[in-house]
Amino acid sequence: MKTNLILLYGGKSAEHEVSLRTAFSVINALDLHKFAACPVYITNDGEWIKGPEITVKLTFVEQLRFQDADETALAKEQNETSTGVVINPAEVGTEKTNTVVFPLLHGPNGEDGTVQGLLEVLNLPYVGNGVLASAAGMDKIVMKKVFADAGIPQVPTVSLRLIDWEQFGDEMTEDICAAIKFPMFVKPANLGSSVGISKAETPEELKAAIVEAFRFDRRIVVEEGINAREIEMAVLGNDTPVCSVAGEILPKGEGNVFYDYKAKYQDDDTILIIPAELDAGVLEQLKEYAIQAFLGVDGSGLVRADFFVTKDNQIFLNEINTMPGFTPVSMYPLLWEASGLPYDKLIEQLVELALERYEAKNRLQYKLED
Ligand SMILES: Nc1ncnc2c1ncn2[C@@H]1O[C@H](COP(=O)(O)OP(=O)(O)O)[C@@H](O)[C@H]1O
Ligand SMILES: [Mg+2]
Repeated sequence: MKTNLILLYGGKSAEHEVSLRTAFSVINALDLHKFAACPVYITNDGEWIKGPEITVKLTFVEQLRFQDADETALAKEQNETSTGVVINPAEVGTEKTNTVVFPLLHGPNGEDGTVQGLLEVLNLPYVGNGVLASAAGMDKIVMKKVFADAGIPQVPTVSLRLIDWEQFGDEMTEDICAAIKFPMFVKPANLGSSVGISKAETPEELKAAIVEAFRFDRRIVVEEGINAREIEMAVLGNDTPVCSVAGEILPKGEGNVFYDYKAKYQDDDTILIIPAELDAGVLEQLKEYAIQAFLGVDGSGLVRADFFVTKDNQIFLNEINTMPGFTPVSMYPLLWEASGLPYDKLIEQLVELALERYEAKNRLQYKLED
C-alpha cells in the first residue's frame, strides 16, 4: 500500500517562494509507486488549498501554485491550469490511514512549532521536529540557553526586551558596550533568513541596529561579532541521531557584509564547500556539539547546526535550524549526499523517522489506570 504523503508548502512567510521550490523538488524526487503525493498549498494569505493527487512528475513550480476552484475561470484566463479546493487545516489527512505529513515550511508559522502543534492535535505523523524543538529552534534567546546548559560554546550575547529598552535605552547601550566588543550583530529573537539583522561598529550604529531589530520582535539579541568561517553540520535521526560531514559557506555577493537575506536567496554565487576542510579533531568536536544541540532541544528527524570556526580553531555554535533549506542544492541535503545518502533516500528516511516517532508516542500511556 502506498503511503499518502501530504506536503504542506508555501506559507505565510518571507520564505514562501523557497518553500514552493522545495515542494517541487521533493515531489519530483518521490517514488510515486511508494508514495501518493498529496499537495496542500498554503497561500501568502494563509489560505490552505488542497490540490489533486500528483501522479506524474511535475514540469514547472507553477503547477503547485493552486488556485481556489472558485477562481478557476480567472485561472483559465491567466492560462494557469491548476485548481484546488480551499480546506480547513483540520481536514488535512482526514482519511488518516497510512498518512504522513511533510511540512516543507520555513520561518514563522511553519518552522516554529505552530503547524507542528496542529498536527499533534490532529494525531497525524509528520516529518521533522516536534513542537518543543521547533519553537526553541526559532527563538534565539531560548536556543542559546539550551546550548549553554549543554556546555556548547557560543559568542558573548546580551538579550533585551523592548519594554526595558524604551525605559533604559541609554544605560543599556552603555552596559552592552562594556560587556561585549564591536563589531556587534543585532538580531530579532524570533525570525530567520537574516531579516531585521544588522551589524554595528559604533555605539550610534548599535542603537540604530537595536531600533531596527525591535521593529520585528519585542525580544532581541546583541552578539559579539567574530571573524570566522561558517561551518554547517546536518543531523538526522530521533533518539540516536547521526551527523553528516561538514560544509562551509562562502558568501560571495559583492558588498555583502555577512550572509544576509540576499546572499541566502538571491545570489547564485554563494559557494558551498563540501566537505569543508577541517582538522580531524575540530570535525569530531563539531559533530559532538551538533548532536548535543539536537538532543538539547529534543530534536526529531532533522536539524542543521550552524557554527563559526575561527582561524585558531575556536568553535562557536551560532544557531540551529529545525527545517533547513531542503532543495537538492541546499546545504542539508548536499551534506547527506556527500555522506552517502542521496536526496530521494533522505526523504524516505525522514518519513520512516516520522512514523517511528509517532509509534513511540502512541505507545505512551495517556490516561490513568481505572
Ligand atoms: N556573531 C556573529 N559574528 C559574525 N557573523 C555573524 C554573527 N551573527 C550572525 N552573523 C552573520 O549573519 C548571518 C545571519 O545570522 P543568523 O544568526 O544565522 O541569522 P538567521 O537565523 O536569520 O539565519 C550569519 O550567517 C553570519 O554570516
Ligand atoms: Mg543562520
